[in-house]
Amino acid sequence: MEIAFLLNGETQNITVDNPTVTLLDWLRETKGLHGTKEGCNEGDCGACTVMVTDADGSKSLNACILFLPQLHGKALRTVEGVGTQSDMHPVQTAMVEHHGSQCGFCTPGFVMSMVSAHTNGATDHDNQLAGNLCRCTGYAPIIRAAEAVENAPRPDWIAADQDGVSKFAKPTGPTTSDELAAWYLKNPDATLVGGATDVGLWVTKSLHELEQVCFLSQIPDLAKIEYRDDGLHIGAAVTISDLRDAVADIYPDFAEMLRRYASVQIRNAATIGGNIANGSPIGDGPPALIALGATLTLRRGDERREILMQDFFIEYGKQARKSGEFVESIFIPKQDDRLKCYKLSKRFDQDISAVCGCFNIFVKDGIVECCAIAFGGMAGTPKRADTVEAALIGKPWTRGNVDGAMGLFSADYTPMDDMRASAGYRMKAAQNMLLRYFIEDTTDQPRVLEVSS
Ligand SMILES: Cc1cc2nc3c(=O)[nH]c(=O)nc-3n(C[C@H](O)[C@H](O)[C@H](O)COP(=O)(O)OP(=O)(O)OC[C@H]3O[C@@H](n4cnc5c(N)ncnc54)[C@H](O)[C@@H]3O)c2cc1C
Ligand code: FES
Ligand code: FES
Repeated sequence: MEIAFLLNGETQNITVDNPTVTLLDWLRETKGLHGTKEGCNEGDCGACTVMVTDADGSKSLNACILFLPQLHGKALRTVEGVGTQSDMHPVQTAMVEHHGSQCGFCTPGFVMSMVSAHTNGATDHDNQLAGNLCRCTGYAPIIRAAEAVENAPRPDWIAADQDGVSKFAKPTGPTTSDELAAWYLKNPDATLVGGATDVGLWVTKSLHELEQVCFLSQIPDLAKIEYRDDGLHIGAAVTISDLRDAVADIYPDFAEMLRRYASVQIRNAATIGGNIANGSPIGDGPPALIALGATLTLRRGDERREILMQDFFIEYGKQARKSGEFVESIFIPKQDDRLKCYKLSKRFDQDISAVCGCFNIFVKDGIVECCAIAFGGMAGTPKRADTVEAALIGKPWTRGNVDGAMGLFSADYTPMDDMRASAGYRMKAAQNMLLRYFIEDTTDQPRVLEVSS
C-alpha cells in the first residue's frame, strides 16, 4: 500500500507492508522520533497525542491506536514539529513559565493536546485535556498554562500544513461508498476500520494480525451529516466529535453525553458506525439512537435495507449484519426534543458506562403519548425497556405511575455483575433514572451538571 503525508512539514512517501503498523511504533522505531511517548498503548492516557490536519481542520489523536495508512493525505505534527529550542510554540513556553511539568513523561502529550486546542481556539480546557493523564505535576499548573495562551498568535506552520494536504493523490483502496460496497462484497472477510478505537486495541493488546483492511476514513461520502426535512442523516464514518457538534442544538442532552464519551482524542477518531457495528452492550451511541427511533441503512453490494436500530442488536456478539454488508448510514427522524441521556461511569470523564439510560417520553395533556426508553449496560445488547414503556403509555404522567413502572425494570433486564458495577446497582440506578427524568420534567430543580460552586 502506497501512502503519502506530511510529517512536521516534510513529505513522506511510504510503501506500507503491514497496514496495521501503528503511528506510534513507526514514529519511534522507524523515524527515531521519541518525543511521542508510549504509556498505556490503548488510547487511555494521552502520552502519545499528536495533531493531524486535513481539509476539515486540525485535531488531536492518539498515535498508539492510529494505523499508519490512516494518515494518507494528511499533515501530521509531533511534539518535535511544533517549535524549536529558540522558537517554542506559545503552549511550550507557557508550560515552562507555569511549571506544568515535573517528570515530563506526559508533557509531550499534554503539549500536543494543548497545541491542538489552541489551533482550534478551544478554551474548555478541562474537557480538552480529559484524555491526558499526569501522575506528578497536578493539573492546575497545566490548565493555567493553557489559559495563559488562549489569545497567543498561531505559528505559521499551521496554515502551511493546511495548504500542504491538498496535493496528495487518491489513496489505494475504495474512496467512495459505491467502491466500498463492490470491494467488500468480493472481500467479506476483510476488516473495515472506522476510527480504529476498537480495532487498534485488537492489534496492540490482543496482538491480532489483520491481513486485509479497508480504511473508511478515506471515503468522504461516508462522513457526511445532512439535515433534511425528515430528520438527520448521518454517514457511518462520521466521528463522535462531528456527531456531537451536529446534535448540539437539536438534542443537547445527547451532545452532553457525547462530551463524556472517552476523550477528545478518541472522539476525534471513533466513528458512530464503528460504535454501532461493534455490537458492544456498553456503547454510548446506541441507547440514545434507539430512544430517538433511529434506523440504520445496511448495504451489501447494490442492495440496501433499512432496519430499526433496536433490531440490529440480536444478542451479545451477534448483530443483524450479513457477510459483505456494512453500515452505510444512520437516520434520526425529526422530532421535538424530549431526550435525556444519563451516563453513569466510575470516573466522570474518559470512562466507559456502567449504565447508560436514554429516555424519550412525550406527554400530551398530562398523559404519556409515546415513550422510548433504551439502556446500555443492562443486558447483553443495547435494549429497550418494553415492559416499562407499556406501563407508562396511555397513563397519566404522575409520580404514582412512575413509581409503579420503576418496579417493572426487572421484567425487561437481567443485568450482570462485573468490574464496572454490580447487578443490583445497575438495576437500582436504572429505576432511579426514570424517576430522575420525571423529576427533571415536572419540576424546576436543577440538574446535577448545572450545579457549580
Ligand atoms: C480509551 C477508550 C475509551 C472509550 N470510551 C468509550 C465511551 O466512553 N463510550 C463508548 O461508547 N465507547 C467508548 N470506547 C469504544 C470505542 O471508541 C467505540 O466503540 C468506537 O465508536 C468504535 O468506533 P471506531 O470507528 O473506532 O471503530 P473501529 O475500531 O474502527 O471498528 C470497530 C468495529 O466496527 C466495525 N466497523 C466499523 N465501521 C463499520 C461500518 N461502517 N460497517 C460495518 N462495520 C464497521 C469494524 O470492522 C470493527 O469490527 C472507548 C475506546 C477507547 C479506546
Ligand atoms: S499511549 Fe496511552 S493513549 Fe496512547
Ligand atoms: S509530569 Fe510526570 S506524569 Fe506528568
